[in-house]
Amino acid sequence: MILQGATDASVRLDRFRRTPGLRRIVRETRLSAADLILPIFVSERAIDAGPVSSMPGVSRIPLADVKRLAPVIRSAGVGGVLIFGTPAAKDEIGGVASDVDGVVPRAVRAFKSADPDVVVITDVCLCQYLTHGHCAIADNGEFDRSRTLAALGEIAAAHGASGADIVAPSAMRDGQVRAIRRALDSRDLMDVSVMSYAVKHASAFYGPFREAADSAPAFGDRRSHQLDPANSREALREAMRDIRDGADALLIKPGMPTLDVLSAVGALPDRPPIGAYQVSGEFAMIKAAAERGWIDERSAVLESLVAMKRAGADFIVTYFALDAAAWIREEIR
Ligand code: PBG
Repeated sequence: MILQGATDASVRLDRFRRTPGLRRIVRETRLSAADLILPIFVSERAIDAGPVSSMPGVSRIPLADVKRLAPVIRSAGVGGVLIFGTPAAKDEIGGVASDVDGVVPRAVRAFKSADPDVVVITDVCLCQYLTHGHCAIADNGEFDRSRTLAALGEIAAAHGASGADIVAPSAMRDGQVRAIRRALDSRDLMDVSVMSYAVKHASAFYGPFREAADSAPAFGDRRSHQLDPANSREALREAMRDIRDGADALLIKPGMPTLDVLSAVGALPDRPPIGAYQVSGEFAMIKAAAERGWIDERSAVLESLVAMKRAGADFIVTYFALDAAAWIREEIR
């Protein structure tokens, strides 16, 4: 078949690329600061706070500084924050993770009292709280599904009771969305949303995060529960299962390596909002190349974010959120 126009010299797609004004009116995808969510690492002990060496510009902040961050997020126009906590102590069952006076609940309260309008999302997982660094409670070397699901429900309830708008389970345990929804509803926390990390490939790009959150597994890896990066049909099944289980929103990660999945999930009928997570390794790659002068940081960041939006993301979790928000504002002017 000969496509009509393909041989017709009168069709010239570059006419609309000629000037910034023409390009602007035909632009299909726009980023806005409100689409962006900034992950933050909060340390219970001030001594654990400080810069993350593999993530230039990112620091673990002490609990006492959380309230100072709220107005910064607000004035940047960034949509929300995703809170990760590093507790003062770890153990074998992650008990402190569901303590309402633990690091994350206290960070949520500090943030919400400084600014109730910024959306606060909490990561719901056990890896930061367990000595072995895996995302589930283990018994004699075997992961214990029912204890893990019960613990995830308790953690989510503690976060929700402290004022989190959204809880985001990242443990990749089958049944976690349902267990969390039940735990929330049984405590009258019906309004707390669940944003499931439905599609989470077992990715090398989470490396720097594990330094930041002090959550590297002490043995083995996470391939027994995170998705094989080779699989997209399975990824779609994960997404559909979490939708059926009542997830209010889905997260898909890592960002750039899973644009095809993002686009497939985005095309599902009746789907909830979906977010892409530009993870720590993607951040580190751009930073490292930019520091060497090999790529231009600002354009690489904006291009990577617009690609995720173009692929179907309604919002994007990114460590670049504050810088990107400022750059987006300058572009609009
Ligand atoms: C696990 C969790 C991870 C990330 C978010 N939640 C790490 C992992 O699965 O090993 C990674 C995020 C990033 O790399 O930025 N609780």
